[in-house]
Amino acid sequence: MSILEKLSLQHNNAGGCSGLNAWCYGEQTLESINPFNKQAIATIRTCNADNYSNIVEQSQQAFKQWREVPAPKRGECIRLIADQLRANKDALGSLVSMEMGKIKAEGDGEVQEMIDMADFAVGLSRMLYGKTMQSEREQHRMFEQWHPLGVVGVITAFNFPVAVWAWNAFIAIVCGNTVIWKPSSKTPLCAIAVQHICNQVMDEMNLPAIFSLFIAQDRYTAHLLVKDSRIPLISFTGSSTTGRQIASTVSDRLGRYLLEMSGNNALIVDETADLKLAIPAIVFGAVGTAGQRCTTTRRVIVHKKIKSRLIKTLQTAYQQIIPGAPLNPATLMGPLIDEKAVQQYEQVIQQLEKESAEIIYGGKVIETMGYCVEPTIVCIDASVSLVQKETFAPILYIIEYETLEQAIAIQNAVPQGLSSAIFSNDIRSSERFLSVSGSDCGIANVNIGTSGAEIGGAFGGEKETGGGREAGSDSWKAYMRRQTCTINRGQDLPLAQGIKFDIKQR
Ligand code: UN1
Repeated sequence: MSILEKLSLQHNNAGGCSGLNAWCYGEQTLESINPFNKQAIATIRTCNADNYSNIVEQSQQAFKQWREVPAPKRGECIRLIADQLRANKDALGSLVSMEMGKIKAEGDGEVQEMIDMADFAVGLSRMLYGKTMQSEREQHRMFEQWHPLGVVGVITAFNFPVAVWAWNAFIAIVCGNTVIWKPSSKTPLCAIAVQHICNQVMDEMNLPAIFSLFIAQDRYTAHLLVKDSRIPLISFTGSSTTGRQIASTVSDRLGRYLLEMSGNNALIVDETADLKLAIPAIVFGAVGTAGQRCTTTRRVIVHKKIKSRLIKTLQTAYQQIIPGAPLNPATLMGPLIDEKAVQQYEQVIQQLEKESAEIIYGGKVIETMGYCVEPTIVCIDASVSLVQKETFAPILYIIEYETLEQAIAIQNAVPQGLSSAIFSNDIRSSERFLSVSGSDCGIANVNIGTSGAEIGGAFGGEKETGGGREAGSDSWKAYMRRQTCTINRGQDLPLAQGIKFDIKQR
């Protein structure tokens, strides 16, 4: 059985239609392309503006029903989805690998991330706690409670075509919202496969359209979701340029947004660092997902004393990174997503050659193999402006430092603020890095790389990364509205702040 058959995507028209959540039924089509061989995997029917309004109306109707369902029962729905994800992990992981180009181990890892997120959400469905407060008035009780927002729009990027949706959708659903998913046009098939799994569970539990898929036919149609005041929250993952436009459109209508955008993550290696840990962390961080994670390690800031040892070890390790077929278990790095990504890689390499940068490994496009490029290492000075930029490709900058203060300053001197790390065996240096004037990022690790975060923590970052937090910890609060309630059980009506306001009553 082929991967597509296993995931019920066997029809020529992979978009298909089902009575419940007929999610892609427009006339225009979109091709899903395998970036390793540039061949079309399937043709998908997309949504036009009319289809969009049907989807929103269905989702709004579904919300009215879903918000009345007790949260632990909503959790049961996610538990059933997790069962299906476990059963389909291999096939879905392979599809992620085939359509996005990340290696099979990472494709499977992405599905595991969905499963972990589902398990977290099931537990969370019994823990949507509110506080109680001490009222200053006699015989009064004060507390806060959390209610769902409504229809939540989730816009995801190609690089994590299923996991990032799960971070948002599973939490939003247990909170009592319904979800409309606008996936990247580069990975529509992964989204359809996941929607099939959701449809099965919705059928089984006899639920209305709490999960919907909106594969927009073009940018204009996609924007309908962003500017729609019926969508109280838009969660967006992608570039800072698009995110900025989304933030402005959503704030214009006083909606809420949750942004997870660019990263330019640095890993500091001090003179006490254990290179046995640092080297694999750097290599996985820099070439994992072919450098297309928002958490990718883009800069290594290394102490002058160990720079040459680190470079030598890194060059040897890079010799094992031979780009190849993502589904081949021996491959450690697959292709970039498309032609445009390859062009961006080439342009940056050309610019680096013009600057005083030294390309010490890789630097070439592999013409014969889809959108594959060589993993690249560049020695560079932090003052070169390219260092400020996030290039979604496996290009790693090596920057030298002399004092930890200098290293922290270099690490923070970029517009992005997602992930950061220090490799050190010196507790003072590690603590200095984590201190209030240390890393300015949303994620700061010690002796762990910049990528590969667990779902249990809140995920997101500062500055141009957008400030949002998704996945674990108390990120669920972004998907709910807080209500402060005060109840008077007494015979009098005392006012807060001791205000006297006497009116005579007969
Ligand atoms: C992303 O690249 O948008 O921490 C998400 C990581 C993954 C998620 C990355 N768990 O690298």
